Amino acid sequence: MVMSSTNNKKRILSGIKPTGTPHIGNYAGMLLPMLQLAANHADQDVFMFVADYHALNNADARKNLGPLGRELTATLLALGFDPKTCTFYRQSDVPEVFELASFLTNFTPKGLMNRSHAYKAAVAAYGTSFTPSDDLKKMMLSEGDKWSPETLGRLSVEMQQHEANADSGINMGLYNYPILMAADILLYDIDRVPVGRDQRQHIEFARDIAGYVNNAYGQDLLKLPEGVYQADTQEVPGIDGRKMSKSYGNVLPIFAEAAEVEKIVKKIKTDSTLPAEPKDKDNLLVKFHQAMSTPEQHADFLARFLPGGMGYGDAKKEVMAAHEAKFGKARDEYKRLMAAPGELDSILKMGAEKARDVAGPVLRRIRKAAGFSA
Ligand code: ADP
Ligand code: TRP
Repeated sequence: MVMSSTNNKKRILSGIKPTGTPHIGNYAGMLLPMLQLAANHADQDVFMFVADYHALNNADARKNLGPLGRELTATLLALGFDPKTCTFYRQSDVPEVFELASFLTNFTPKGLMNRSHAYKAAVAAYGTSFTPSDDLKKMMLSEGDKWSPETLGRLSVEMQQHEANADSGINMGLYNYPILMAADILLYDIDRVPVGRDQRQHIEFARDIAGYVNNAYGQDLLKLPEGVYQADTQEVPGIDGRKMSKSYGNVLPIFAEAAEVEKIVKKIKTDSTLPAEPKDKDNLLVKFHQAMSTPEQHADFLARFLPGGMGYGDAKKEVMAAHEAKFGKARDEYKRLMAAPGELDSILKMGAEKARDVAGPVLRRIRKAAGFSA
């Protein structure tokens, strides 16, 4: 049976992958809500972790796992996750999670994983990467813009072959990602998982998988977690208008220096609306400002910007000032931590011990129910 934590505090968990430089979208979508919860440690136990094993399925990120992991660890600590009051650890330091993930695969219908957005996006990206063979290209070029039935037939065959290979660029780590993520959560009897909206499906999968296990054993063996999604913080767009993402190179980094912030903010495209004219609130500057301000600060900015009276140049200056006000001080601590790898290691070691103290009994409970030695 699911044990409630000894002190009846709610357990809250979230994680983030070290796949690139953390940005203001990560901050607004997940880190800020987690920091607010972590500050209230009298009422809840917060688990925050560096999801380094999740980065392994990405061929670029895996080359740089060490440095990216350190950057992320220092970022989280500098932002205020306190290893004394929360359980702050690195996923790969808790081997119990891999056993649980392995266990969960047996209860996870393959069809559920086929529906994963991340997997489907990888398949779709592969689909758009089709290029005809050299032979076919020659035929197409020689025929100009009116292709013969033979050329069209070959094109169709090559496209079908390409599609049939769609899985070839996808490793099982990516395919099984939602199962490892479910294990990250279920291993600690977590009550709530604050994440950005793009993670909703993963949380639903974790609940589904826990449900299948509970059903198989006829008991509440695993606790069903609730996702907590920000109501008013929409996804923060990047400077190219797509979702801001570590993998798209379109980010405003949390700890960018003022000169870099200026360079990035200056790149934001604006239209020809004059300073005195009203502005559209679907504007990147508005979203950036919102991501780095309190609701009051943001309302004040909107009241001066939207009706007209403030030009884009001044709005950009305010966005830069918001970044400095929010992260300037923490950036100093970040730099100090980046220069102290020994300190990062010992914090992570201590965190892993705390995490394993919680994970051990949960895994034993599961092993026992399954009929393994516990
Ligand atoms: P990325 O796409 O930058 O690699 P992750 O997938 O590591 O980000 O996400 C870490 C957390 O930050 C997740 O909870 C995710 O929902 C949130 N998040 C990521 N990008 C954004 C964004 N642009 N706006 C709001 N939240 C985001
Ligand atoms: N998949 C999450 C992301 O891309 C990171 C993550 C891994 C996570 N395991 C988790 C988040 C468990 C919350 C709970 O952002």
